[in-house]
Amino acid sequence: MVRLRQLREWTGLTFRDLETRSRRLGDHLPRSTLASTLRRDALPRQEFVEALVRACGLDPAPWARARRRLAVRLAAAEPAGERTWVQAAEQAPVRDGSAPHQLPLAPPVLVGRDRELDQVAGMLAGTPVTVISGPAGAGKSAVGVRAAHRAAHLFPDGQLYVNLRGTTPGAEPPAPAEIAGVLLRSLGIAWPQAPADAGEATGRLRTALSGRRLLVLLDDVASAAQVRPLVPCCGPSAVILTSRMSLTSLDGSRHVRLDPLSHAEAEEVLERNLGAERVRAEPEAVRTLADLCGHLPLGLRIAAARLAARPEWPVRVLTRRLADERRRLDEFRVDDMDVRASLAVSFEDVAGSDDEPARLAARVLGRLADLPAGEIRLPEDAVLLEVPEDTADRALERLVDAGLVESRTPGCYRVSELVRLFALEQSESGVRGESGGQGESGVRGERGVRGGCGVRGER
Ligand SMILES: Nc1ncnc2c1ncn2[C@@H]1O[C@H](COP(=O)(O)OP(=O)(O)OP(=O)(O)O)[C@@H](O)[C@H]1O
Ligand SMILES: [Mg+2]
Repeated sequence: MVRLRQLREWTGLTFRDLETRSRRLGDHLPRSTLASTLRRDALPRQEFVEALVRACGLDPAPWARARRRLAVRLAAAEPAGERTWVQAAEQAPVRDGSAPHQLPLAPPVLVGRDRELDQVAGMLAGTPVTVISGPAGAGKSAVGVRAAHRAAHLFPDGQLYVNLRGTTPGAEPPAPAEIAGVLLRSLGIAWPQAPADAGEATGRLRTALSGRRLLVLLDDVASAAQVRPLVPCCGPSAVILTSRMSLTSLDGSRHVRLDPLSHAEAEEVLERNLGAERVRAEPEAVRTLADLCGHLPLGLRIAAARLAARPEWPVRVLTRRLADERRRLDEFRVDDMDVRASLAVSFEDVAGSDDEPARLAARVLGRLADLPAGEIRLPEDAVLLEVPEDTADRALERLVDAGLVESRTPGCYRVSELVRLFALEQSESGVRGESGGQGESGVRGERGVRGGCGVRGER
């Protein structure tokens, strides 16, 4: 009872507040009952404990279980003091079958990524926040889900999953309070759909995480601001975030970056999806297909799905269709997988921003895409982007953060093949109207890059 009293004091809620909140949650907890029950030292009724803990915004399950255990001991005349009950209530993890296991199915085929999976495993052991970032379709969700399944046994109080819709076309990414509410309800903690105070919801979530050993996978994060209030401050829970954004501003976070696959891995994805026989029949066409997909898992999966739907097609039929740069993005679409739609969200985030430097970054992307190799070295080649050197640097860094440009060595920036085609399309269709399209020379491909990064085609 002492701890129930302390719990109420900790929340700072009056009896009137508790009565109102419990009514909102569908419980009946009149002020008079609260006052008289909390004054006594007798073991309170189960319903009272659950309703009070719920009204305080916590998960009633561990408290209820601890109360039941105490009731059994009292009935057996075993000496069990208030401390026993309270300690159990505080520490009791959810290990009775009610623990949430929300992770989606892990992808059946995951080629490569062993190093990244090991990195994530190491980080989960020692840090509350692990970020998996990378360009559109690089396999961030696939790696995040696989890593979470592998580590699930270390988090016996459950695994939670929420898609934060950071890049879902046409979707508004949910705000932190809404996400906190979803997670609290998943933990069995009654929480209103529209809490009055956002800080209250996120604070309750951090409290819930700090007392349990939970793994939370927040997939497709829109921005650091969307998740900053949700991150646990302390305790044994851990969070994996996947995002196209780098999210390096999150305190205490550790980072794993996914690049496109190597050429050999890209071919293996095709082989695992198409079958060894089909690959053996046309090794050259498969090699070309891997390159046309930019070694990007999403492109490879789409190509494989299209060929699976046309078993009578030789692989070279698809490579011929993809060879035409102007049609290539049209070909990269099957069911709900669509490279153009996927890239459009990231591009729109930059080009449609209210922020002038972001819009300038979109124009710089158009110019970078227009360079023959789609890559550039700064500072020496900044002039090719037709902006001052420091502007070029800031714009390119912004594009790297948005997952639209790769930079594996300082000063070297490269746009991947599919992003290059997308950016050229945007330039040509005059989207945002200022990208310069084919540049001031008006002739694509005629300008040279003095010091390219020399990485194209290596992976
Ligand atoms: N290493 C891999 N081997 C085989 N298939 C993969 C690999 N990585 C990802 N895939 C598959 O590629 C597709 C795209 O992967 P995924 O959705 O994880 O990309 P993403 O980076 O999360 O994309 P987005 O930026 O849109 O969130 C999925 O069908 C996934 O199963
Ligand atoms: Mg994803």
